Amino acid sequence: MADAAAENSSYYLTTPIYYVNGVPHLGTAYTTIAADALARFERMDGRDTWFLTGLDEHGQKVAQAAEAKGVSPQEWVDSVAPQFLDAWEALSISNDDFIRTTEQRHIQGVQRFFEQMRANGYIYQDTYEGFYCVPEETFFTDEQLADFAAAAAVEGCPSTDESGAKLCPDCGRPLSFVQEDNLFFKLSAFQDRLLAYYEENPGFICPEIRRNEVLSFVRGGLKDLSISRTTFNWGVPIPFAPGHVSYVWVDALINYITAVGYGSDDPVKQAEFAKRWPCQVHFVGKDIIRFHCVIWPAMLMAAGIEPPGKVFAHGFLLTKGEKMSKSKGNATSPLELAKIFSVDGYRYYFLTDVQFGADGSISLERMVQVYNADLANSWGNLCSRAFNMTSKYCAGRVPELWEKTAARLTQEMGNPLAELAEGLYERYARAMNAIDYSSAYAAVMELCDRANLYIEESTPWTLAKQAAAEAEEAAAAGVSLDDATAPTAADRLSFVLYNILESIRIMALFFAPVMPNTSAEVFGRLGLGDVFGGDGLQAATRWGGLPAGNEVIIGEPLFPRLKEEEL
Ligand code: MSP
Repeated sequence: MADAAAENSSYYLTTPIYYVNGVPHLGTAYTTIAADALARFERMDGRDTWFLTGLDEHGQKVAQAAEAKGVSPQEWVDSVAPQFLDAWEALSISNDDFIRTTEQRHIQGVQRFFEQMRANGYIYQDTYEGFYCVPEETFFTDEQLADFAAAAAVEGCPSTDESGAKLCPDCGRPLSFVQEDNLFFKLSAFQDRLLAYYEENPGFICPEIRRNEVLSFVRGGLKDLSISRTTFNWGVPIPFAPGHVSYVWVDALINYITAVGYGSDDPVKQAEFAKRWPCQVHFVGKDIIRFHCVIWPAMLMAAGIEPPGKVFAHGFLLTKGEKMSKSKGNATSPLELAKIFSVDGYRYYFLTDVQFGADGSISLERMVQVYNADLANSWGNLCSRAFNMTSKYCAGRVPELWEKTAARLTQEMGNPLAELAEGLYERYARAMNAIDYSSAYAAVMELCDRANLYIEESTPWTLAKQAAAEAEEAAAAGVSLDDATAPTAADRLSFVLYNILESIRIMALFFAPVMPNTSAEVFGRLGLGDVFGGDGLQAATRWGGLPAGNEVIIGEPLFPRLKEEEL
Protein backbone atom coordinates (compact mmCIF):
# COMPACT_ATOMS: atom_id res chain seq x y z
CA MET A 1 0.00 0.00 0.00
CA ALA A 2 2.85 2.40 0.68
CA ASP A 3 3.63 1.96 -3.01
CA ALA A 4 0.66 4.22 -3.63
CA ALA A 5 2.57 6.98 -1.84
CA ALA A 6 5.59 6.33 -4.02
CA GLU A 7 3.51 6.52 -7.21
CA ASN A 8 1.63 9.60 -6.12
CA SER A 9 2.38 12.61 -8.31
CA SER A 10 2.29 14.84 -5.25
CA TYR A 11 4.83 14.96 -2.45
CA TYR A 12 2.89 15.52 0.75
CA LEU A 13 4.70 15.77 4.08
CA THR A 14 3.64 16.77 7.56
CA THR A 15 4.82 17.66 11.04
CA PRO A 16 2.87 16.70 14.14
CA ILE A 17 0.31 19.30 15.07
CA TYR A 18 1.56 20.91 18.23
CA TYR A 19 -0.23 21.33 21.51
CA VAL A 20 -1.27 24.87 22.18
CA ASN A 21 -0.54 24.64 25.87
CA GLY A 22 2.97 25.92 25.30
CA VAL A 23 4.85 28.23 23.01
CA PRO A 24 7.15 26.92 20.27
CA HIS A 25 10.37 25.54 21.75
CA LEU A 26 13.53 23.93 20.40
CA GLY A 27 11.85 20.51 20.24
CA THR A 28 8.85 21.56 18.18
CA ALA A 29 11.03 23.87 16.09
CA TYR A 30 13.34 20.92 15.41
CA THR A 31 10.61 18.77 13.88
CA THR A 32 9.32 21.72 11.91
CA ILE A 33 12.69 22.80 10.51
CA ALA A 34 13.51 19.23 9.53
CA ALA A 35 10.26 18.87 7.62
CA ASP A 36 10.78 22.29 6.07
CA ALA A 37 14.22 21.35 4.75
CA LEU A 38 12.80 18.28 3.03
CA ALA A 39 9.83 20.23 1.67
CA ARG A 40 12.18 22.82 0.18
CA PHE A 41 14.39 20.12 -1.30
CA GLU A 42 11.44 18.27 -2.86
CA ARG A 43 10.10 21.51 -4.36
CA MET A 44 13.51 22.43 -5.76
CA ASP A 45 13.86 18.91 -7.09
CA GLY A 46 10.74 19.47 -9.13
CA ARG A 47 8.03 17.66 -7.19
CA ASP A 48 4.54 19.01 -6.57
CA THR A 49 5.10 19.41 -2.84
CA TRP A 50 2.59 20.07 -0.09
CA PHE A 51 3.86 20.76 3.41
CA LEU A 52 1.45 20.80 6.34
CA THR A 53 1.86 21.82 9.94
CA GLY A 54 -0.65 23.06 12.49
CA LEU A 55 -2.06 22.95 15.99
CA ASP A 56 -3.71 20.37 18.21
CA GLU A 57 -6.25 22.51 20.02
CA HIS A 58 -8.68 20.16 21.76
CA GLY A 59 -8.44 17.98 24.85
CA GLN A 60 -8.62 18.07 28.59
CA LYS A 61 -5.26 19.78 29.00
CA VAL A 62 -6.32 22.75 26.89
CA ALA A 63 -9.71 22.90 28.63
CA GLN A 64 -7.95 22.97 32.00
CA ALA A 65 -5.42 25.58 30.90
CA ALA A 66 -8.22 27.84 29.65
CA GLU A 67 -10.14 27.41 32.86
CA ALA A 68 -7.07 28.33 34.88
CA LYS A 69 -6.75 31.53 32.80
CA GLY A 70 -10.44 32.29 33.19
CA VAL A 71 -11.09 32.31 29.44
CA SER A 72 -12.99 30.02 27.12
CA PRO A 73 -10.95 27.24 25.44
CA GLN A 74 -11.53 28.87 22.05
CA GLU A 75 -10.27 32.24 23.34
CA TRP A 76 -7.27 30.48 24.82
CA VAL A 77 -6.29 28.65 21.63
CA ASP A 78 -6.89 31.78 19.56
CA SER A 79 -4.46 33.65 21.77
CA VAL A 80 -1.73 31.01 21.43
CA ALA A 81 -2.05 30.20 17.71
CA PRO A 82 -0.42 33.46 16.48
CA GLN A 83 2.70 32.67 18.49
CA PHE A 84 3.18 29.51 16.45
CA LEU A 85 2.43 31.23 13.18
CA ASP A 86 4.87 34.02 14.00
CA ALA A 87 7.59 31.66 15.16
CA TRP A 88 7.38 29.54 12.02
CA GLU A 89 7.47 32.59 9.84
CA ALA A 90 10.47 33.91 11.74
CA LEU A 91 12.25 30.57 11.23
CA SER A 92 11.55 30.65 7.47
CA ILE A 93 9.16 27.71 7.53
CA SER A 94 7.58 27.30 4.11
CA ASN A 95 4.42 25.38 5.01
CA ASP A 96 1.68 25.38 2.39
CA ASP A 97 -1.12 25.04 4.90
CA PHE A 98 -1.64 25.40 8.63
CA ILE A 99 -4.41 23.38 10.17
CA ARG A 100 -6.05 24.02 13.50
CA THR A 101 -8.24 21.25 14.86
CA THR A 102 -10.92 23.76 15.88
CA GLU A 103 -11.55 24.62 12.21
CA GLN A 104 -14.83 23.50 10.69
CA ARG A 105 -13.12 21.65 7.80
CA HIS A 106 -11.41 19.47 10.38
CA ILE A 107 -14.38 18.94 12.67
CA GLN A 108 -16.54 17.80 9.79
CA GLY A 109 -13.84 15.41 8.59
CA VAL A 110 -13.37 13.90 12.05
CA GLN A 111 -17.10 13.30 12.32
CA ARG A 112 -17.19 11.60 8.92
CA PHE A 113 -14.20 9.50 9.88
CA PHE A 114 -15.94 8.28 13.04
CA GLU A 115 -19.01 7.43 11.00
CA GLN A 116 -16.92 5.49 8.52
CA MET A 117 -15.16 3.47 11.21
CA ARG A 118 -18.50 2.75 12.86
CA ALA A 119 -20.15 1.74 9.58
CA ASN A 120 -17.29 -0.71 9.05
CA GLY A 121 -17.94 -2.25 12.45
CA TYR A 122 -14.87 -1.06 14.36
CA ILE A 123 -16.46 1.02 17.10
CA TYR A 124 -18.34 -0.23 20.16
CA GLN A 125 -19.36 1.23 23.51
CA ASP A 126 -18.02 0.02 26.85
CA THR A 127 -16.86 1.24 30.23
CA TYR A 128 -13.30 2.44 30.52
CA GLU A 129 -11.55 2.15 33.83
CA GLY A 130 -7.94 3.04 34.04
CA PHE A 131 -5.24 5.65 34.26
CA TYR A 132 -4.84 8.72 32.08
CA CYS A 133 -2.13 11.35 31.88
CA VAL A 134 -3.70 14.72 31.14
CA PRO A 135 -0.45 16.58 30.21
CA GLU A 136 0.46 13.79 27.76
CA GLU A 137 -3.17 13.09 26.82
CA THR A 138 -2.41 9.37 27.00
CA PHE A 139 -4.13 6.29 28.45
CA PHE A 140 -1.91 3.77 30.21
CA THR A 141 -2.76 0.09 30.58
CA ASP A 142 -2.16 -1.80 33.84
CA GLU A 143 0.63 -3.75 32.11
CA GLN A 144 2.37 -0.56 31.01
CA LEU A 145 2.19 0.80 34.55
CA ALA A 146 3.43 -2.48 36.05
CA ASP A 147 6.40 -2.49 33.64
CA PHE A 148 7.14 1.11 34.51
CA ALA A 149 6.98 0.39 38.27
CA ALA A 150 9.33 -2.57 37.87
CA ALA A 151 11.82 -0.56 35.79
CA ALA A 152 11.63 2.39 38.18
CA ALA A 153 12.35 0.08 41.14
CA VAL A 154 15.48 -1.23 39.39
CA GLU A 155 16.67 2.29 38.60
CA GLY A 156 15.75 3.59 42.04
CA CYS A 157 13.28 6.14 40.62
CA PRO A 158 9.82 6.74 42.02
CA SER A 159 6.73 5.45 40.19
CA THR A 160 4.33 7.00 42.74
CA ASP A 161 4.31 10.35 44.53
CA GLU A 162 4.30 10.93 48.32
CA SER A 163 0.54 10.43 48.43
CA GLY A 164 0.86 7.09 46.64
CA ALA A 165 -0.60 8.39 43.36
CA LYS A 166 0.79 6.63 40.30
CA LEU A 167 3.10 8.71 38.09
CA CYS A 168 3.10 8.94 34.31
CA PRO A 169 5.80 6.71 32.74
CA ASP A 170 6.42 9.39 30.08
CA CYS A 171 6.44 12.70 31.93
CA GLY A 172 6.55 11.70 35.63
CA ARG A 173 3.50 13.74 36.59
CA PRO A 174 0.60 12.21 38.60
CA LEU A 175 -1.93 10.21 36.60
CA SER A 176 -5.70 10.64 36.85
CA PHE A 177 -8.00 7.69 37.32
CA VAL A 178 -10.71 7.66 34.68
CA GLN A 179 -13.95 5.70 34.86
CA GLU A 180 -16.17 6.52 31.91
CA ASP A 181 -18.68 5.08 29.54
CA ASN A 182 -16.65 5.42 26.33
CA LEU A 183 -16.51 4.43 22.72
CA PHE A 184 -13.82 1.93 21.86
CA PHE A 185 -11.89 1.33 18.67
CA LYS A 186 -11.23 -2.35 17.87
CA LEU A 187 -7.49 -1.86 17.59
CA SER A 188 -6.96 -5.50 18.60
CA ALA A 189 -8.46 -6.59 15.27
CA PHE A 190 -5.56 -4.99 13.38
CA GLN A 191 -2.56 -6.79 14.79
CA ASP A 192 -2.09 -9.11 11.81
CA ARG A 193 -2.91 -6.49 9.21
CA LEU A 194 -0.43 -4.07 10.75
CA LEU A 195 2.30 -6.70 10.92
CA ALA A 196 1.66 -7.57 7.28
CA TYR A 197 1.80 -3.89 6.37
CA TYR A 198 5.16 -3.40 8.12
CA GLU A 199 6.45 -6.53 6.38
CA GLU A 200 5.34 -5.42 2.92
CA ASN A 201 6.56 -1.85 3.45
CA PRO A 202 9.96 -2.08 5.11
CA GLY A 203 10.48 1.67 4.70
CA PHE A 204 7.26 2.57 6.53
CA ILE A 205 8.91 3.15 9.91
CA CYS A 206 12.29 4.89 9.99
CA PRO A 207 14.87 4.66 11.37
CA GLU A 208 15.33 0.89 11.84
CA ILE A 209 15.52 1.10 15.63
CA ARG A 210 11.99 2.56 15.76
CA ARG A 211 10.73 -0.06 13.36
CA ASN A 212 11.98 -2.79 15.68
CA GLU A 213 10.41 -1.07 18.65
CA VAL A 214 7.02 -0.87 16.94
CA LEU A 215 7.24 -4.44 15.65
CA SER A 216 7.86 -5.86 19.09
CA PHE A 217 5.09 -3.73 20.57
CA VAL A 218 2.55 -4.93 18.01
CA ARG A 219 3.72 -8.56 18.24
CA GLY A 220 3.06 -8.32 21.98
CA GLY A 221 -0.67 -7.93 21.21
CA LEU A 222 -2.93 -4.90 20.88
CA LYS A 223 -5.70 -3.79 23.18
CA ASP A 224 -8.80 -1.93 22.06
CA LEU A 225 -8.52 1.80 22.53
CA SER A 226 -10.88 4.20 24.25
CA ILE A 227 -11.58 6.88 21.65
CA SER A 228 -14.11 9.16 23.30
CA ARG A 229 -14.43 11.15 26.48
CA THR A 230 -17.59 12.13 28.30
CA THR A 231 -16.45 14.13 31.34
CA PHE A 232 -15.68 17.35 29.43
CA ASN A 233 -16.76 18.75 26.12
CA TRP A 234 -13.71 20.44 24.58
CA GLY A 235 -13.40 18.17 21.55
CA VAL A 236 -15.13 17.11 18.37
CA PRO A 237 -18.68 15.89 19.19
CA ILE A 238 -19.27 12.37 17.94
CA PRO A 239 -22.40 12.52 15.80
CA PHE A 240 -23.85 9.16 16.78
CA ALA A 241 -23.00 9.34 20.50
CA PRO A 242 -24.46 12.36 22.25
CA GLY A 243 -22.33 13.59 25.13
CA HIS A 244 -19.14 12.05 23.69
CA VAL A 245 -16.26 14.03 22.27
CA SER A 246 -13.38 12.46 20.37
CA TYR A 247 -10.29 11.40 22.31
CA VAL A 248 -7.84 14.17 21.43
CA TRP A 249 -5.23 11.93 19.79
CA VAL A 250 -7.77 10.42 17.42
CA ASP A 251 -9.02 13.91 16.59
CA ALA A 252 -5.42 15.10 16.08
CA LEU A 253 -4.25 12.25 13.84
CA ILE A 254 -7.13 12.80 11.45
CA ASN A 255 -5.75 16.30 10.71
CA TYR A 256 -3.39 14.75 8.18
CA ILE A 257 -6.33 13.94 5.93
CA THR A 258 -8.84 16.67 6.75
CA ALA A 259 -6.23 19.28 5.80
CA VAL A 260 -6.08 17.94 2.27
CA GLY A 261 -9.81 17.64 1.77
CA TYR A 262 -11.01 14.45 3.43
CA GLY A 263 -14.63 14.73 4.55
CA SER A 264 -15.34 17.77 2.40
CA ASP A 265 -18.46 18.12 0.25
CA ASP A 266 -16.56 20.30 -2.21
CA PRO A 267 -15.50 18.28 -5.30
CA VAL A 268 -12.33 20.38 -5.63
CA LYS A 269 -11.27 19.38 -2.11
CA GLN A 270 -12.23 15.78 -2.76
CA ALA A 271 -9.99 15.78 -5.81
CA GLU A 272 -7.22 17.28 -3.73
CA PHE A 273 -7.55 14.46 -1.22
CA ALA A 274 -7.37 11.89 -4.00
CA LYS A 275 -4.22 13.58 -5.30
CA ARG A 276 -2.39 14.18 -2.03
CA TRP A 277 -3.19 11.10 0.01
CA PRO A 278 -1.43 8.88 0.99
CA CYS A 279 1.23 11.27 2.15
CA GLN A 280 4.91 10.54 1.59
CA VAL A 281 6.16 11.18 5.10
CA HIS A 282 4.99 12.11 8.57
CA PHE A 283 7.81 13.68 10.57
CA VAL A 284 7.42 12.90 14.28
CA GLY A 285 9.48 12.70 17.43
CA LYS A 286 10.28 9.23 18.75
CA ASP A 287 7.88 9.79 21.67
CA ILE A 288 4.84 9.61 19.45
CA ILE A 289 5.58 6.66 17.17
CA ARG A 290 2.93 4.34 18.60
CA PHE A 291 0.26 6.85 17.75
CA HIS A 292 1.62 7.27 14.24
CA CYS A 293 2.79 3.76 13.40
CA VAL A 294 0.16 1.66 15.18
CA ILE A 295 -3.03 3.56 15.98
CA TRP A 296 -3.07 5.83 12.91
CA PRO A 297 -2.58 3.16 10.21
CA ALA A 298 -5.11 0.92 12.01
CA MET A 299 -7.62 3.78 12.11
CA LEU A 300 -7.12 4.36 8.41
CA MET A 301 -7.51 0.68 7.63
CA ALA A 302 -10.71 0.68 9.69
CA ALA A 303 -12.05 3.58 7.64
CA GLY A 304 -10.95 1.97 4.36
CA ILE A 305 -8.25 4.55 3.63
CA GLU A 306 -4.64 3.83 2.70
CA PRO A 307 -1.99 4.26 5.39
CA PRO A 308 0.79 6.85 4.95
CA GLY A 309 3.97 6.08 3.04
CA LYS A 310 6.44 6.68 5.82
CA VAL A 311 6.75 7.77 9.42
CA PHE A 312 10.19 9.16 10.20
CA ALA A 313 10.86 9.46 13.93
CA HIS A 314 13.64 11.76 15.01
CA GLY A 315 15.36 11.60 18.37
CA PHE A 316 15.34 14.00 21.28
CA LEU A 317 17.45 17.05 21.69
CA LEU A 318 19.19 16.68 24.99
CA THR A 319 20.70 19.43 27.09
CA LYS A 320 23.16 18.10 29.63
CA GLY A 321 21.79 14.60 29.07
CA GLU A 322 18.12 15.45 29.73
CA LYS A 323 15.26 15.70 27.29
CA MET A 324 14.58 19.33 26.76
CA SER A 325 11.03 20.25 27.66
CA LYS A 326 8.96 22.97 29.15
CA SER A 327 8.11 20.91 32.22
CA LYS A 328 11.82 20.43 32.95
CA GLY A 329 12.43 24.14 32.60
CA ASN A 330 15.42 23.67 30.26
CA ALA A 331 13.74 24.75 27.06
CA THR A 332 15.27 27.72 25.27
CA SER A 333 13.40 29.87 22.82
CA PRO A 334 14.30 29.19 19.19
CA LEU A 335 13.91 32.86 18.37
CA GLU A 336 16.43 33.89 21.02
CA LEU A 337 18.97 31.53 19.49
CA ALA A 338 18.14 32.63 15.97
CA LYS A 339 18.92 36.21 17.03
CA ILE A 340 22.44 35.13 17.91
CA PHE A 341 23.14 32.62 15.16
CA SER A 342 20.81 33.97 12.46
CA VAL A 343 17.88 31.87 11.30
CA ASP A 344 20.03 29.99 8.80
CA GLY A 345 22.81 29.38 11.32
CA TYR A 346 20.23 28.01 13.75
CA ARG A 347 18.68 25.71 11.14
CA TYR A 348 22.07 24.52 9.94
CA TYR A 349 23.26 23.60 13.41
CA PHE A 350 20.23 21.55 14.38
CA LEU A 351 19.98 19.71 11.10
CA THR A 352 23.60 18.88 10.59
CA ASP A 353 25.21 18.49 14.00
CA VAL A 354 22.52 16.14 15.30
CA GLN A 355 22.27 12.98 13.18
CA PHE A 356 18.61 13.03 12.17
CA GLY A 357 16.89 10.04 13.76
CA ALA A 358 19.21 9.77 16.76
CA ASP A 359 19.19 11.67 20.05
CA GLY A 360 21.59 14.56 20.07
CA SER A 361 23.28 16.60 22.75
CA ILE A 362 23.07 20.26 22.05
CA SER A 363 24.89 23.13 23.70
CA LEU A 364 25.59 26.77 23.12
CA GLU A 365 29.30 26.03 23.06
CA ARG A 366 28.88 23.48 20.27
CA MET A 367 26.60 25.82 18.36
CA VAL A 368 29.30 28.48 18.37
CA GLN A 369 31.91 25.93 17.25
CA VAL A 370 29.84 24.63 14.33
CA TYR A 371 28.74 28.10 13.31
CA ASN A 372 32.28 29.46 13.30
CA ALA A 373 33.88 26.46 11.62
CA ASP A 374 31.35 25.69 8.90
CA LEU A 375 29.55 28.96 8.32
CA ALA A 376 31.81 31.84 9.32
CA ASN A 377 35.19 30.35 8.36
CA SER A 378 34.22 28.08 5.52
CA TRP A 379 31.05 29.04 3.62
CA GLY A 380 30.84 32.71 4.60
CA ASN A 381 34.54 33.27 4.19
CA LEU A 382 34.61 31.60 0.79
CA CYS A 383 31.86 33.90 -0.46
CA SER A 384 33.48 36.99 0.92
CA ARG A 385 36.92 36.15 -0.52
CA ALA A 386 35.45 35.27 -3.91
CA PHE A 387 33.28 38.39 -4.13
CA ASN A 388 36.11 40.63 -3.01
CA MET A 389 38.53 39.16 -5.53
CA THR A 390 35.96 39.52 -8.28
CA SER A 391 35.56 43.16 -7.41
CA LYS A 392 39.30 43.74 -7.22
CA TYR A 393 40.56 41.70 -10.16
CA CYS A 394 37.60 41.45 -12.53
CA ALA A 395 35.88 44.83 -12.20
CA GLY A 396 33.11 43.22 -10.15
CA ARG A 397 31.81 40.97 -12.91
CA VAL A 398 31.73 37.22 -13.42
CA PRO A 399 34.76 36.75 -15.69
CA GLU A 400 34.36 35.85 -19.30
CA LEU A 401 36.54 33.27 -20.99
CA TRP A 402 36.75 31.82 -24.45
CA GLU A 403 35.45 28.29 -24.55
CA LYS A 404 38.63 27.13 -26.30
CA THR A 405 40.81 28.76 -23.70
CA ALA A 406 38.75 27.26 -20.89
CA ALA A 407 39.12 23.78 -22.41
CA ARG A 408 42.84 24.27 -22.73
CA LEU A 409 43.19 25.54 -19.17
CA THR A 410 41.13 22.65 -17.84
CA GLN A 411 43.59 20.35 -19.52
CA GLU A 412 46.56 22.27 -18.26
CA MET A 413 45.49 23.16 -14.72
CA GLY A 414 42.71 20.66 -14.04
CA ASN A 415 39.40 21.68 -12.51
CA PRO A 416 38.97 19.95 -9.15
CA LEU A 417 35.88 22.01 -8.29
CA ALA A 418 34.01 21.01 -11.42
CA GLU A 419 34.97 17.40 -10.84
CA LEU A 420 33.71 17.43 -7.26
CA ALA A 421 30.55 19.30 -8.21
CA GLU A 422 29.75 16.80 -10.90
CA GLY A 423 28.89 13.87 -8.64
CA LEU A 424 27.41 16.04 -5.91
CA TYR A 425 23.77 15.99 -6.93
CA GLU A 426 23.59 12.19 -6.73
CA ARG A 427 25.26 12.07 -3.32
CA TYR A 428 23.21 14.94 -1.99
CA ALA A 429 19.85 13.75 -3.34
CA ARG A 430 20.44 10.22 -2.11
CA ALA A 431 21.11 11.52 1.40
CA MET A 432 18.18 13.96 1.33
CA ASN A 433 15.81 11.25 0.15
CA ALA A 434 17.01 9.11 3.03
CA ILE A 435 16.35 12.13 5.31
CA ASP A 436 19.99 12.14 6.31
CA TYR A 437 20.75 15.83 6.46
CA SER A 438 24.17 15.40 8.08
CA SER A 439 25.48 13.37 5.13
CA ALA A 440 23.85 15.62 2.55
CA TYR A 441 25.45 18.72 4.03
CA ALA A 442 28.79 17.07 4.72
CA ALA A 443 28.96 16.40 0.96
CA VAL A 444 28.29 20.08 0.18
CA MET A 445 30.79 21.18 2.82
CA GLU A 446 33.42 19.08 1.02
CA LEU A 447 33.02 21.28 -2.03
CA CYS A 448 33.15 24.34 0.17
CA ASP A 449 36.39 23.26 1.81
CA ARG A 450 37.82 22.25 -1.56
CA ALA A 451 36.99 25.69 -2.95
CA ASN A 452 38.78 27.41 -0.07
CA LEU A 453 41.78 25.20 -0.67
CA TYR A 454 41.58 25.91 -4.41
CA ILE A 455 41.98 29.60 -3.68
CA GLU A 456 45.18 28.85 -1.75
CA GLU A 457 46.47 26.58 -4.51
CA SER A 458 45.64 28.78 -7.45
CA THR A 459 46.65 32.08 -5.78
CA PRO A 460 44.49 34.51 -7.78
CA TRP A 461 46.44 37.42 -6.27
CA THR A 462 49.65 36.14 -7.91
CA LEU A 463 47.81 35.59 -11.20
CA ALA A 464 46.53 39.16 -10.97
CA LYS A 465 50.06 40.48 -10.54
CA GLN A 466 51.30 38.37 -13.45
CA ALA A 467 48.42 39.56 -15.59
CA ALA A 468 49.28 43.18 -14.81
CA ALA A 469 52.93 42.56 -15.65
CA GLU A 470 52.03 40.79 -18.90
CA ALA A 471 49.74 43.66 -19.88
CA GLU A 472 52.52 46.16 -19.18
CA GLU A 473 55.00 44.19 -21.23
CA ALA A 474 52.57 43.86 -24.12
CA ALA A 475 51.83 47.58 -24.07
CA ALA A 476 55.52 48.38 -24.07
CA ALA A 477 56.04 46.04 -27.03
CA GLY A 478 53.00 47.46 -28.79
CA VAL A 479 51.26 44.05 -29.11
CA SER A 480 47.76 43.01 -28.12
CA LEU A 481 47.28 40.17 -25.64
CA ASP A 482 44.11 39.25 -27.50
CA ASP A 483 46.34 37.82 -30.19
CA ALA A 484 48.23 35.56 -27.75
CA THR A 485 48.18 31.93 -28.82
CA ALA A 486 48.75 30.48 -25.32
CA PRO A 487 46.51 31.34 -22.36
CA THR A 488 47.66 34.46 -20.56
CA ALA A 489 47.81 35.06 -16.81
CA ALA A 490 44.59 37.05 -17.21
CA ASP A 491 42.96 33.98 -18.76
CA ARG A 492 44.14 31.86 -15.85
CA LEU A 493 42.76 34.38 -13.40
CA SER A 494 39.40 34.43 -15.16
CA PHE A 495 39.32 30.65 -15.22
CA VAL A 496 40.12 30.32 -11.52
CA LEU A 497 37.67 32.99 -10.41
CA TYR A 498 34.92 31.63 -12.59
CA ASN A 499 35.41 28.19 -11.05
CA ILE A 500 35.19 29.59 -7.55
CA LEU A 501 32.09 31.67 -8.28
CA GLU A 502 30.42 28.80 -10.10
CA SER A 503 31.02 26.43 -7.21
CA ILE A 504 29.50 29.07 -4.91
CA ARG A 505 26.42 29.22 -7.12
CA ILE A 506 26.07 25.44 -6.97
CA MET A 507 26.57 25.33 -3.21
CA ALA A 508 23.99 28.04 -2.67
CA LEU A 509 21.49 25.77 -4.41
CA PHE A 510 22.37 22.77 -2.30
CA PHE A 511 22.40 24.81 0.89
CA ALA A 512 19.03 26.41 0.16
CA PRO A 513 16.75 23.80 1.78
CA VAL A 514 18.49 24.31 5.11
CA MET A 515 19.70 27.91 4.73
CA PRO A 516 17.15 29.53 2.43
CA ASN A 517 17.93 33.13 3.35
CA THR A 518 21.67 33.12 2.77
CA SER A 519 21.28 31.15 -0.43
CA ALA A 520 18.83 33.74 -1.73
CA GLU A 521 21.28 36.43 -0.66
CA VAL A 522 24.20 34.74 -2.43
CA PHE A 523 22.11 34.38 -5.56
CA GLY A 524 21.33 38.07 -5.39
CA ARG A 525 25.01 38.94 -5.01
CA LEU A 526 25.85 36.82 -8.05
CA GLY A 527 23.25 38.68 -10.08
CA LEU A 528 21.05 35.59 -10.32
CA GLY A 529 17.30 35.20 -9.95
CA ASP A 530 15.28 33.06 -7.57
CA VAL A 531 17.32 30.33 -5.90
CA PHE A 532 14.15 28.23 -5.68
CA GLY A 533 13.19 28.75 -9.30
CA GLY A 534 14.56 26.74 -12.18
CA ASP A 535 13.65 23.38 -13.54
CA GLY A 536 14.89 20.85 -11.06
CA LEU A 537 17.89 20.82 -8.79
CA GLN A 538 19.88 18.42 -10.93
CA ALA A 539 19.70 20.67 -13.98
CA ALA A 540 20.28 23.78 -11.89
CA THR A 541 23.43 22.40 -10.27
CA ARG A 542 25.04 21.32 -13.54
CA TRP A 543 28.45 22.95 -13.96
CA GLY A 544 28.60 26.08 -16.09
CA GLY A 545 25.28 27.71 -15.26
CA LEU A 546 26.71 31.00 -14.01
CA PRO A 547 26.45 33.59 -16.78
CA ALA A 548 29.63 35.54 -17.51
CA GLY A 549 29.33 39.26 -17.11
CA ASN A 550 26.92 39.16 -14.16
CA GLU A 551 27.60 41.91 -11.68
CA VAL A 552 28.90 40.59 -8.34
CA ILE A 553 28.19 42.45 -5.11
CA ILE A 554 30.55 42.10 -2.14
CA GLY A 555 28.01 42.83 0.62
CA GLU A 556 28.32 42.33 4.35
CA PRO A 557 29.79 39.09 5.77
CA LEU A 558 27.11 36.37 5.57
CA PHE A 559 28.06 34.86 8.92
CA PRO A 560 30.09 37.20 11.14
CA ARG A 561 32.31 35.25 13.53
CA LEU A 562 30.96 34.74 17.05
CA LYS A 563 32.83 34.69 20.31
CA GLU A 564 31.23 32.49 22.94
CA GLU A 565 32.33 34.75 25.78
CA GLU A 566 30.46 37.66 24.21
CA LEU A 567 27.11 35.87 24.00
N1 MSP B 1 -0.09 17.14 19.73
C1 MSP B 1 0.77 16.05 19.71
C2 MSP B 1 1.01 15.56 18.30
C3 MSP B 1 -0.22 15.21 17.54
S1 MSP B 1 0.16 14.78 15.91
C4 MSP B 1 -1.21 14.11 15.30
C5 MSP B 1 2.10 16.40 20.34
N2 MSP B 1 2.41 17.69 20.37
S2 MSP B 1 3.71 18.34 21.03
O1 MSP B 1 3.46 19.76 21.09
O2 MSP B 1 4.02 17.68 22.24
O3 MSP B 1 4.86 18.25 20.01
C6 MSP B 1 5.36 17.09 19.66
C7 MSP B 1 6.60 17.20 18.83
O4 MSP B 1 7.66 17.96 19.43
C8 MSP B 1 7.10 15.81 18.69
O5 MSP B 1 7.55 15.56 17.42
C9 MSP B 1 8.17 15.76 19.74
O6 MSP B 1 9.04 14.75 19.65
C10 MSP B 1 8.79 17.14 19.57
N3 MSP B 1 9.60 17.42 20.73
C11 MSP B 1 9.23 17.88 21.94
N4 MSP B 1 10.34 17.93 22.75
C12 MSP B 1 11.41 17.46 22.08
C13 MSP B 1 12.80 17.41 22.29
N5 MSP B 1 13.35 17.72 23.43
N6 MSP B 1 13.60 17.06 21.27
C14 MSP B 1 13.11 16.83 20.02
N7 MSP B 1 11.84 16.89 19.79
C15 MSP B 1 10.92 16.90 20.84
O7 MSP B 1 2.81 15.51 20.74
